[in-house]
Amino acid sequence: MNASREADRIPGGAAKERFVRRLFTAIAPTYDIMNVVMSAGCIYLWHRFFRRHTALGPGDRALDVCTGTGELARIMAEQVRPGGRVVGIDLTPGMLEIARYKLAARGLDEEVELIEGNALSLPFDDGSFKAASMGFALRNVADIPQAIREMARVVRPGGRVLNLELSKPPSPFVRVPYFFYFYRVVPVLGRLIERTAAQVGSIRPYTYLPASLVKFPDQATLARVFREAGLVNVRYYSLTGGIVTLHVGEKPA
Ligand SMILES: C[S@@+](CC[C@H](N)C(=O)[O-])C[C@H]1O[C@@H](n2cnc3c(N)ncnc32)[C@H](O)[C@@H]1O
Repeated sequence: MNASREADRIPGGAAKERFVRRLFTAIAPTYDIMNVVMSAGCIYLWHRFFRRHTALGPGDRALDVCTGTGELARIMAEQVRPGGRVVGIDLTPGMLEIARYKLAARGLDEEVELIEGNALSLPFDDGSFKAASMGFALRNVADIPQAIREMARVVRPGGRVLNLELSKPPSPFVRVPYFFYFYRVVPVLGRLIERTAAQVGSIRPYTYLPASLVKFPDQATLARVFREAGLVNVRYYSLTGGIVTLHVGEKPA
């Protein structure tokens, strides 16, 4: 597979949203387990790091944009109880269904409200939340600056915007072996489960995954997008050699 060629085939705008919805509907049942397998368990470390940077406490309100199966929403719900609330929003009903089931199983269905909606036009008033997060989803949205602007808008002054996402490792010593794994091994792993998950149009889900990183901005460029959205104290943390990055920005108080 040539990832750059695949990246050129990913549609833009509304077509991308339709594509993304179909893709995540197809992989929803296996999404969580694939995350654990493909990250060799590192997903747990990345989630733990995210938890340490939300600055949330009991009684707070938080938003998880592109919540998918609700993993970041669950983490924040554990932080804001008692008395707090988390809203998880996503385009794909099939992903939200899994989130609903998981949150109920953990007794967090009171704390978390799940709604269908678009990251590019959040149905909330300005300053509604103490924190807004996004996990492993920014590569999927059709307009990255607009998604960050929307998160910044709905966070209250002093609140945080957090984005946990795959990134391109800056060091060649990490990048070369990682890219081999990501661009060569992941699609093969994915093909094993694609026997059950439908191919979406002419693009296979775990061929799309590596292709979606090709045109994604590097760490410093994404930090600039955060600043251009009006966020301050923008910083980013490279995790596992920069395979994943957590960007954090604050709305001026
Ligand atoms: C890779 S999953 C990430 C799920 C979850 N945040 C996590 O950390 O595992 C990407 C999710 O983003 C959602 N998504 C993509 N574009 C979206 C948009 N414009 N608005 C809302 N959700 C979107 C997809 O439906 C999918 O559930």
